[in-house]
Amino acid sequence: MSAQVKFTLDETQIPKYWYNIAADLPTPPAVLHPATQQPVGPSDLESLFPMELILQEVSTEREIEIPEPVRDIFRLWRPSPLIRARRLEQALDTPAKIYFKYEGVSPAGSHKPNSAIPQAWFNKQAGIKKLTTETGAGQWGSSLAFAGSLFGIDVTVYQVRCSYDQKPYRRALMETYGAKCISSPSTQTESGRAALAANPDSPGSLGIAISEAVEIAVKNPDVKYALGSVLNHVLLHQTIIGQEAIKQFELTGDDPDVIIACAGGGSNFAGLAFPFLGLTLRGGRRRRVIAVEPAACPTLTRGKYAYDYGDTAHLTPLVKMHTLGSTFVPPGFHAGGLRYHGMSGQVSQAYELGLIEARAYQQLACFEAGVQFARAEGIVPAPESTHAVRCAIDEALRCKAEGKAETICFNLSGHGHFDMGAYINYFSGKLVDQDYDAAELASSLAELPQVAAE
Ligand SMILES: Cc1ncc(COP(=O)(O)O)c(C=O)c1O
Repeated sequence: MSAQVKFTLDETQIPKYWYNIAADLPTPPAVLHPATQQPVGPSDLESLFPMELILQEVSTEREIEIPEPVRDIFRLWRPSPLIRARRLEQALDTPAKIYFKYEGVSPAGSHKPNSAIPQAWFNKQAGIKKLTTETGAGQWGSSLAFAGSLFGIDVTVYQVRCSYDQKPYRRALMETYGAKCISSPSTQTESGRAALAANPDSPGSLGIAISEAVEIAVKNPDVKYALGSVLNHVLLHQTIIGQEAIKQFELTGDDPDVIIACAGGGSNFAGLAFPFLGLTLRGGRRRRVIAVEPAACPTLTRGKYAYDYGDTAHLTPLVKMHTLGSTFVPPGFHAGGLRYHGMSGQVSQAYELGLIEARAYQQLACFEAGVQFARAEGIVPAPESTHAVRCAIDEALRCKAEGKAETICFNLSGHGHFDMGAYINYFSGKLVDQDYDAAELASSLAELPQVAAE
């Protein structure tokens, strides 16, 4: 058995194409206009996105070329390493082999620049000089701020209030890259003012922050909007993770039996899983693929598969997805990037087709896994990523109980260096498991839009 720990590729092996799972999945339910409930066409999305990104959103081509200038920037941190967690395996005394793809090596500390760079680049090509966006964990906001600084684009980020308060250094990072960061809900937009009128102490949510950023783009013709997850083109950009991992597994001599990633809107999960699922869909071997979500925001495991809005103020198109209802505000737990009411349409579709599994965990069990991982492997995971770590550890312990030497691969989507406040709360016993409010969930599901197409 090879004792190698890190499996790396050189810069020439950065993928040249993004993998588009739409080519291998059945035709998905149409995306509908929020006012007319008719299928949206490319022109309906033009106030928000440049045409190249809209065309990616609706494309069914299996491979979409990555522009050379984008690949050139990726060289700053890609290909990211695939690492065998041998010390964690030993600590768990498991016969399982545990690998993780480490996306925390990017400048912002997570997978998010994989989409921020191409989104900023396609906007730049379309002559756009101003972008708005939302951020939950602060990772996406930092990534778009970084991308904006490379292309001379002004970036304004609406950061979910509880995350803004928990992580002042994320804001400082965005400002270092030259972006403006505003706590959401804010008084600067109609949707923000409406959310504050409904609840002056609102912790904010990704749904509200998206409404604020979209509203600014819709009202200002020189401003476009960028989303850090959920949409097809964002998932597409993240597929370089899984494509690299497939090549790296060829170096290991192993082949993953179980693939795991946390899922907020679904982008790092899809990034790792979709290229492997594509192999299966085109006749290859079947693997278990697990999306992990917080028990306090259980979109896949408790949500409905229904048409819903992507934001609280109902400015975005209607997408058929797993949803807790667009008015649902999850409790302010620490994995801010997982506090989203919906799930990407493509990930939801894969779940409905039985191609993937889903699992929900409470935050204490996740932090416990994050600490165990840090003590064995040295990397402190982002609170979002601890969900994947928890699941990988549980799968490795299952292998131990069953005496099976399976190969597990999880996505370590980011490091937690800006999240040490959460770890401080965990160590001091201040962190508690949080349940969503069942009555609030019932009422937000009852308010799902009635859609004739369903
Ligand atoms: C480190 C990290 N992992 C995961 C996520 C969840 O997002 P997604 O499901 O789009 O990967 C986020 C979102 O902010 C994040 O910052």
